[in-house]
Amino acid sequence: MKKIVIAIDGFSSCGKSTMAKDLAKEIGYTYIDTGAMYRAVTLYSIQQGFFSGNRLDEEKLRTSMDTIRITQRFNSETGRSDTFLNGVNVENEIRSMEVAGKVSLIAALPFVRHAMVPLQQKMGEEKGVVMDGRDIGTVVYPDAELKIFVTASPEIRAQRRLDELKAKGDTKSTFEDVLLNVKERDEIDSTRKEGPLRQAEDALVLDNSYMTIPEQKLWLLQQFHNVA
Ligand code: C5P
Repeated sequence: MKKIVIAIDGFSSCGKSTMAKDLAKEIGYTYIDTGAMYRAVTLYSIQQGFFSGNRLDEEKLRTSMDTIRITQRFNSETGRSDTFLNGVNVENEIRSMEVAGKVSLIAALPFVRHAMVPLQQKMGEEKGVVMDGRDIGTVVYPDAELKIFVTASPEIRAQRRLDELKAKGDTKSTFEDVLLNVKERDEIDSTRKEGPLRQAEDALVLDNSYMTIPEQKLWLLQQFHNVA
């Protein structure tokens, strides 16, 4: 069977990564979490003190881009994906609300995208890959054989994200905090100049607001079998 590239784009916290990992595990593909890469650059900027409040010293980040090494490892047996920043596993740290609150600012910077996009293209060059993000079907892999655009209502997405945070022991974040973050990220991601979040013309749209995870998985698997 020929190997293909599957691009899964869509709004924040709509379950793209769960769907993408499930599919990759099922069909023996690699999974690449491009959002985690922007999150890792954000974590690096926080660790290096490039932020004062929400203000970023862009110049400091720009001159450090060469020293940031981001790698990913997907375990196709367990379906777990890990992200490494200069060799350190940062998978948990990049999911914090602090990182979520700053990542869209970082991801809107053209020099950050110009570093991440070629890296993502390289990661998928052997095909047999499920990649999730915002601009995969439009910029990173415009020729992807299967493109999915996922959406769900902001309230449903915020509740899902809150449930995830709580499951990881976050007792501070409230529904309102998370909803605000989801809406802010949608706004910044959709209106930026470089690689904005938008549906590719040839993408299949999935509104998963009222779908269970097994239903989404089944739907995605059917789309894969239709093209592969
Ligand atoms: O997918 P996730 O929510 O982890 O992505 C975090 C952030 O990274 C998004 O809100 C967006 O600002 C940015 N992102 C992006 N392009 C991608 C993937 C993520 O700009 N391909």
